[in-house]
Amino acid sequence: MKGIFITFEGPDGAGKTTQIKMLGLSLEQLNKSVVYTREPGGTSISEEIRGLLLDPRNKEMVARTEALLYAAARAQHVEEVIRPAIEKGQIVLCDRYTDSTIAYQGFGRGIDIGFLNELNAMAVAGVVPDLTLIFDLDPDIGIGRINEKRIVAAGEEKDRIEQENMEFHRKVRQGFRDLALSEPQRCKIINAGRDPETIHSEVVRLVKEVLGL
Ligand code: TYD
Repeated sequence: MKGIFITFEGPDGAGKTTQIKMLGLSLEQLNKSVVYTREPGGTSISEEIRGLLLDPRNKEMVARTEALLYAAARAQHVEEVIRPAIEKGQIVLCDRYTDSTIAYQGFGRGIDIGFLNELNAMAVAGVVPDLTLIFDLDPDIGIGRINEKRIVAAGEEKDRIEQENMEFHRKVRQGFRDLALSEPQRCKIINAGRDPETIHSEVVRLVKEVLGL
């Protein structure tokens, strides 16, 4: 039996990670086999690429290098983790995927979207999400949350992408909203400004539809 592939997207600080954990627990209670993974990352090669991408010291990284590294990490992740899990019939919950490349490197950095679509297609080689949940939140709130977290975890620096200016984060948010409009069948937009339990109920409803439950 073929599994199900669900991706979680949205601007930084929108609370995706909390929602992935909550959804995973609900699915496990239904006796589903769940695989949790994330991008950039998910394999040892991809985690090394993640280190390069997010290291705040890599200030000289140009946008094309950035786009290619995200794609390289993704190609490895698809073949080592995502495709095998889907083939085994598991439910894959992935924190970020191809839509982040369109929102961040396309809308945020200004790289041609047509080119990025081709790059994504090459990286994923046919592994397309069954459902993409886009957690929509005003970046003033999202980045505000990240700043608060960093103050609590004293001394922890924001990563290279989080350190971008607010105009960049606004473009990224708009990118995700445009994506949701252009692919309404696959992409569902979720208002991430509400309390976690309310958001979780909506997530469960959307996932059950895709699972046919
Ligand atoms: P991460 O700490 O995982 O962010 P979050 O917890 O908000 O998901 O860092 C991933 C960062 O990489 C995040 O700022 C978004 C960015 N990114 C891209 O710019 N392009 C991509 O293709 C992907 C997958 C992520």
